[in-house]
Amino acid sequence: MNRKYRKTVIAGNWKMNKTPSETKEFMQQFKAILPKGRWCDVALCVPAVCIPAAVRAMRETRVGIGAENCNANASGAYTGEIATNMLVDAGCKYVIIGHSERRAMGETDADVNAKVLAALEAGLTPIMCCGESLEQREAGITDEHIAMQIKLGLQNVSEDKIRKVVIAYEPIWAIGTGKTATPEQAQEVCMNIRAVVRKLYASKNARAISILYGGSMNEKNAFELLAQPDIDGGLIGGASLVPEKFVQIIEAANQPTA
Ligand code: PGA
Repeated sequence: MNRKYRKTVIAGNWKMNKTPSETKEFMQQFKAILPKGRWCDVALCVPAVCIPAAVRAMRETRVGIGAENCNANASGAYTGEIATNMLVDAGCKYVIIGHSERRAMGETDADVNAKVLAALEAGLTPIMCCGESLEQREAGITDEHIAMQIKLGLQNVSEDKIRKVVIAYEPIWAIGTGKTATPEQAQEVCMNIRAVVRKLYASKNARAISILYGGSMNEKNAFELLAQPDIDGGLIGGASLVPEKFVQIIEAANQPTA
């Protein structure tokens, strides 16, 4: 983290977990133990049907609610899809875009780019995900692969909008596996992501964007990961489903920084 230049963001990704009733229950417990200070931005990205319950419960708190996906089109014949203006109207502040689980279902870099542009246009904060597979890491092409995801994902994002984008680095081999990247491995990639952004945008903007780590981040390893200078927060799956664990990760964001 580097609070002097950029925001720390602790974001939960519930994936396909919890019903609206369970959401209400979680939020009551979470609200009761939510740290009072404003050390970092807190987001919870939940299944679409849980958004109303989450927004209602978190009104007048510092927790922003987000979606886990969106459609890039404004409206029309896209059965089952949800447009960005619908998310805004429902009270969302964030949207996760290009999660590896969605890319595995066929989402391309071009789709990710269109969604990022649509989210920014609607005033949502896109949390754009990138990350390499184990095969790519072992083949030594992590940096190339991620640079390509970042460059393609950010195409046509203007200089004045780039600071609104949050990037999440999630090595696929670390997601849901309990196999976290070491703080050094995660720092190295996050630093390289910032270098890619610096090639595309003014260095003051590259310095200002928040880059999160995700992949088995939990209440035990969060402190060390967040101590790295280029890791500005976390995108948390499993551990965001348990209020006590998620709160401990928020607390880990309250450590002194260099
Ligand atoms: P995990 O998921 O924390 O359960 O590994 C992270 C993510 O996929 O966003």
